[in-house]
Amino acid sequence: MKFSNTLIYWQLQNNRELPWRKTKNPYFIWLSEIMLQQTRVAQGMSYYLKFTAQFPSVFDLAKADESTVLKMWQGLGYYSRARNLHFTAKQIANELNGEFPSTYKEIIKLKGIGDYTASAIASICFDEPTAVVDGNVYRVLSRYFGIKTAINSSAGIKEFKILAQTLLDESKPGTYNQALMDFGALHCKPQNPLCETCPFADSCVALERKLTKELPVKDKK
Ligand code: ADE
Repeated sequence: MKFSNTLIYWQLQNNRELPWRKTKNPYFIWLSEIMLQQTRVAQGMSYYLKFTAQFPSVFDLAKADESTVLKMWQGLGYYSRARNLHFTAKQIANELNGEFPSTYKEIIKLKGIGDYTASAIASICFDEPTAVVDGNVYRVLSRYFGIKTAINSSAGIKEFKILAQTLLDESKPGTYNQALMDFGALHCKPQNPLCETCPFADSCVALERKLTKELPVKDKK
């Protein structure tokens, strides 16, 4: 079976009820994706619920004092994320009439939004076929294809992005991207991956060559 079909079939059987899965509102998806960078879903959840309750629209976030936003961010770390979030909320509210940009090309121009977040928002909210590459995706793809290129090298970043893009199911890019992140988080885990029950077991290069523990490769900087 095609990689994307196997993945989406796995997702159907392992779907997570996450609050940001109930919406395609780009403001909410943006909040969730910024919070979930370098943060586990279990930890990010309460912050997401708190922020969306206190700031139900981008105008509410834009109006808030920076000190209030930073205080609500307390415990999540990487405070530049909160500062950029507030800056960009003001820009969207004041310069774009509260309208979130709707293409990858426009979204990535916003402060605090890089390739990962722009791809996630464009695919989840606007069905644009842009592949998300986060830590989970690097792990799954490096293992499945047996790729030893360092994921933190410029060659690796390029190689994995191209590969992720060719594997993407263009008819359901948002579902596919989230399935791949979920599969990495829940099944193809960093330690003790669940290879015995893996739907990719018969074609995973790392499993066949006993490389699971060595992949992905990260260069020491
Ligand atoms: N980690 C970051 N964003 C995610 C998403 N949309 N789904 C699952 N895991 C994630």
